[in-house]
Amino acid sequence: MAILPIRTWGDPVLRQRSRPVERIARVHRRLIKDMIDTMRDAPGVGLAAPQVGVSERIFVWEYEGEASAVINPTVVSLTGESIDDEEGCLSIPGIYYPVARSETARIEGTDVDGDPLLLEGTGFLARILQHETDHLDGVLFLDRLAPEHRREALARLREEALGLPPRAMPADRPNGLMDRETL
Ligand code: NI
Repeated sequence: MAILPIRTWGDPVLRQRSRPVERIARVHRRLIKDMIDTMRDAPGVGLAAPQVGVSERIFVWEYEGEASAVINPTVVSLTGESIDDEEGCLSIPGIYYPVARSETARIEGTDVDGDPLLLEGTGFLARILQHETDHLDGVLFLDRLAPEHRREALARLREEALGLPPRAMPADRPNGLMDRETL
């Protein structure tokens, strides 16, 4: 079991567009295993390769007790209502805000053996798939916040970078100290 260091906000790798995996090698199988260990240890329910400093199109997630991985995922369709729900990111610890995501996501990619994988998720699984695919394009959930939430989140991150004590989250939202599922 190897726990990899998780890159956090400000690290340029989180803003890069990751490159496709051209040939799945042993190093990728090892990476996926380590990413699953790292995600579970964090703890979180989703982790994309750039979050551990690898700019390649791979992510892992855990849903209903089962961990999975996809390589070279592309979004085939986003359908259903747009749903606002709290989201957090292992690369932006302690920051949680509502993000609008499509109710259903269909993603195509391959599994670790290179076999085609078609994933369809609704609700929270759809949210995970959208959040992780975003990571591979250098997009963070902060980019998808309502303007007032984005301003507040960035102010918090700046304060944190200056070493100021963390402000409590507003009373209408949980304070980041509760058990929650982070992506
Ligand atoms: Ni994330």
